[in-house]
Amino acid sequence: MSFCVAVIGAGTIGRSFAWLFARSGYSVAVFDPREDLAEVVSELQAAVSADAAAHNMLASELGSLTLVESVETAVAQASFVQESGPEDPQAKPKLFAQIAAAAPLDAVLATSSSTIPASLIARQLPTQAAARVIVGHPFNPPHLMPLVEVVPAPATSPDTVERALEFYRSCGREPVALNREVRGFVGNRLQNALMKEAISLVENGVISAPDLDAVMKNSLGLRWSAVGQFEAMHLGGGEKGIRGFMHHIGTSFAEIGELPLDLSDAGMAEVYAQVEQAYGQTPSDAGAEARDRAQRAVLESRGQDSTHSEE
Ligand SMILES: NC(=O)c1ccc[n+]([C@@H]2O[C@H](COP(=O)([O-])OP(=O)(O)OC[C@H]3O[C@@H](n4cnc5c(N)ncnc54)[C@H](O)[C@@H]3O)[C@@H](O)[C@H]2O)c1
Repeated sequence: MSFCVAVIGAGTIGRSFAWLFARSGYSVAVFDPREDLAEVVSELQAAVSADAAAHNMLASELGSLTLVESVETAVAQASFVQESGPEDPQAKPKLFAQIAAAAPLDAVLATSSSTIPASLIARQLPTQAAARVIVGHPFNPPHLMPLVEVVPAPATSPDTVERALEFYRSCGREPVALNREVRGFVGNRLQNALMKEAISLVENGVISAPDLDAVMKNSLGLRWSAVGQFEAMHLGGGEKGIRGFMHHIGTSFAEIGELPLDLSDAGMAEVYAQVEQAYGQTPSDAGAEARDRAQRAVLESRGQDSTHSEE
């Protein structure tokens, strides 16, 4: 039997993962209580077929998507489960109790959760099931963004970590394992630090929201699409690398104090107004398409897989 994957929850993340897994050759069972699931799955099937035709893939390279009517049926044959249900700390442990009771005893049980650690999700599970629970946190959309943060709980086995890494790599992703759980994992902690600084700069009248975006796009964003934080410091520090960077400017950067920050709606009113004036009252499809096109171009220029597309 071919390697089977269960996708539990077919919202924004689950749909993108289901598409990616089928496109990567797996037999994917999809469960979601939503009433339009049949429509969602047939749209995904059509997208996988169209993409395969566009890339001259052989039928044997493609996986399949099957709609199922319960969590139990979805996971019954699964070697890998990717749960992408609602971000609810009460609901996820219950859903994982259901998943663990019905899945094969060696299945990896992964959650897409952005904030709920595997230790909380698995806290009431038997030890042998808890050892297979892990966070596989994607960046949206997972069929395009290469990163998956693989975050084990203290009870997660090293074998589960390895198998999760191997599975995501087999789908063309670039997973990274964290050594331990931390709130926000790593990507969102970094994003959060920058988000707070950006808001405070606009709130304190230093710069407008679109000008701040221009600063990002034309300096740090461009650099960070090529190198990470530490590689940038090492390359920018002269012949002494990161040590030179820290001695020259790093420590004085660290002395820059924080500006006041108000994340309430009242405090954010000016930021909201500037963003909506610059980019429209509601986010535009054209804006999202331009973002995806630019991201694909970056992936291509780095020699990474950019062929996955849901269009
Ligand atoms: N949206 C993002 O940017 C993003 C990024 C990374 C991780 N995540 C994580 O992915 C998960 C899903 O987020 P989303 O944005 O796709 O949410 P979403 O609201 O778009 O989708 C959630 C889906 O879960 C379904 N659902 C409800 N109860 C269910 C059940 N008992 N079993 C199975 N499915 C059920 C809903 O019908 C819905 O389709 C969350 O844990 C979230 O933290 C989201």
